[in-house]
Amino acid sequence: MIITTSQKASLSVKEETKELADSLNLAYRERHKKPISELLLSDMPVAVISKNQLTIYFNENQEHRFHLSMAQLRILRLQRGEDDHLVKAVGSLIDESSDAFSIIDCTLGLGSDSIIMSYAFPNAHIIGVEASFPIWLSTWFGLKSFTHEDISVTNALRRIDARYDNFESYLQALPNHSVDILYFDPMFEVPIEESPQFKPLRGHTSEGKITKSIIKEAKRVSRLGFIIKERPFSSIFQDFSPSKWVGGKYSRIGYGVYSNKELQ
Ligand SMILES: C[S@@+](CC[C@H](N)C(=O)[O-])C[C@H]1O[C@@H](n2cnc3c(N)ncnc32)[C@H](O)[C@@H]1O
Repeated sequence: MIITTSQKASLSVKEETKELADSLNLAYRERHKKPISELLLSDMPVAVISKNQLTIYFNENQEHRFHLSMAQLRILRLQRGEDDHLVKAVGSLIDESSDAFSIIDCTLGLGSDSIIMSYAFPNAHIIGVEASFPIWLSTWFGLKSFTHEDISVTNALRRIDARYDNFESYLQALPNHSVDILYFDPMFEVPIEESPQFKPLRGHTSEGKITKSIIKEAKRVSRLGFIIKERPFSSIFQDFSPSKWVGGKYSRIGYGVYSNKELQ
C-alpha cells in the first residue's frame, strides 16, 4: 500500500507521514500536485494523510475514512439510559462486582462495537483484531487520533488496542483461559443487504468464518465466555446453540452468548 499526504500538507504532516510509513513498512510517495488517480496507477490502495485524518482510496470511486458510524447513536442511547444489546450481552457474562476484565474483539472492523464496549465498561482492557490491512489501518488511525467533543468518548477510543492480525492465528497463540471474553462479528453468512457503513469497503473485508475449530478455540481461550453476532437463523446458532440470546424480539441480528459456566 502507498501512503502520501494531501496536496497542501504542511512540512510537519509530511514528516509524520514519512515516520508512519517507516513504522508500518509502507511505501511513502511525495504527493506534490498529483491527483489521486495518478497514485492509483500501481493498482494498490492509497492512504492519504491530512491533518489528523487518514483516507483510504481503493480506486477513484471507492474511499473510506474512520467515522463513529453507528457508535455515535448507540452512545447517545446509552447516555439516555437506554439498553444496548451488546452491552447487555457482555454484562450477562461478567460478575457485577468486577469491571476490570479483558475482551478481544476478534473482528474489529470499523471499531463501532469495540467503542461501545469501551465506553460502557471504561475499566475493561480491549484488544481489537482486524485481518484486512486497509480497514485495520483506518480504524487504528481513527482510534488514536479522532477527537470527539465529549472527552469520555475520545477516551473510550484511545483505550482500544487495534492489532492487524487474523483471529484464527491470534487465538491459537493465546494460553488457555487467558482472556475473559471474546467477541465475534464476522461478515454475515447470508448478506441480504449490505450495511451502509461497509458499502465503501466492498471487496476489501476479510471473510473469516466461525467454524467448529474456532468455537473450540474460543472455549479454550476465554475464561468467562464468548459472544457471536449473527442473524438468528444462521447455521452457527443451529450447530452450536448459545446459552443465551440477546436481541430484540423482531431484530434481524442478535448476540449469541456462550457462557463457559454453562458450557462445562
Ligand atoms: C461485520 S465486520 C465487523 C464490524 C465491527 N463489529 C464494527 O463494529 O465495526 C467484520 C470484520 O471482520 C473482519 N474479519 C473477517 N475475518 C477476519 C479474521 N479471520 N480475523 C480478523 N478479522 C476478520 C472483516 O475484515 C471485517 O472488517
